[in-house]
Amino acid sequence: MLSSPNSSSSSGVSAAKETPPATAGEAPALIVYQDVSKSFDDRVVLKGINLKIFPGETVVILGRSGSGKTVLTSMLVGLNTPDEGSITVMGIKLQDLKTEQDWKELRLKTGYLFQGSALYDSMTVGENVAFPIREHLKLSESEIGQRVAEKLALVGLAGIEWKMPAELSGGMRKRVALARAIALDPDIMLFDEPTTGLDPVLTASIDQLIIETQKRFQMTCVVISHDIQSVFRIAHNIVMLHEGRIIEGGPPEVFRQSSNPVIQNFLAGRPSNDILKTDPVTGVS
Ligand SMILES: Nc1ncnc2c1ncn2[C@@H]1O[C@H](COP(=O)(O)OP(=O)(O)OP(=O)(O)O)[C@@H](O)[C@H]1O
Ligand SMILES: [Mg+2]
Repeated sequence: MLSSPNSSSSSGVSAAKETPPATAGEAPALIVYQDVSKSFDDRVVLKGINLKIFPGETVVILGRSGSGKTVLTSMLVGLNTPDEGSITVMGIKLQDLKTEQDWKELRLKTGYLFQGSALYDSMTVGENVAFPIREHLKLSESEIGQRVAEKLALVGLAGIEWKMPAELSGGMRKRVALARAIALDPDIMLFDEPTTGLDPVLTASIDQLIIETQKRFQMTCVVISHDIQSVFRIAHNIVMLHEGRIIEGGPPEVFRQSSNPVIQNFLAGRPSNDILKTDPVTGVS
């Protein structure tokens, strides 16, 4: 991952140094954000984001609630569009994709575990996991059943096809959502807070799942997480969003040693004056 952090903000936060990605030079970047900005009404959420994500790496995006993590990530599947700048995924410029048909190829290659990971409550677990398969692939019923069984086994839930989501614990629902997200064997996986609300043991098991599926399928993963322990377990590279900019980017060891007070406070779970000045959600000072 190569981020090009922006210049110092008015809060005195210093710019991060450029950190060479582990895979730089070996392969071209798979995802490139170039000068991406986004506002909602008069609230500026992203201010000129530059970020490169390389094949096969897991990049974790950190930031306070309301800092724009979901907005930034959901742009990769067209749920949000930049006001300015461009995003390229696998060589495809997203602004050139105008219709659902244009998006189809990329959607097949990108799995998205939504924040909250909602399942369709009126469908069985098996139907939930089969949903993207039916939508995108022309397979026979037995092939669909086989693929559903395989994905459920992968998340440690073999044989629960006939259960309803309401019968499952929160951790099981997350794992079913994960099975659904990887149902099409994506090249890119986006995880929006995959462990929020889970106990430490379940969190560790979801982390392990992310690590294993990433390795097994050589996926490129973008993970949004608030769980610092989790972040250091899974990340090859970490970027921190703050006040619309990437204020630090690099591997976990570089991140841990960052002298940036916003990062140190975030890692320690301490509120910083800088953060308390402004409501991160409403932007009201
Ligand atoms: N569709 C929208 N319309 C208006 N404002 C929006 C919209 N989507 C996001 N926002 C605003 O953009 C800002 C960033 O939202 P985002 O969901 O990306 O935050 P986040 O970093 O993912 O936060 P959290 O950790 O709470 O999930 C917030 O102030 C939010 O209210
Ligand atoms: Mg979010």
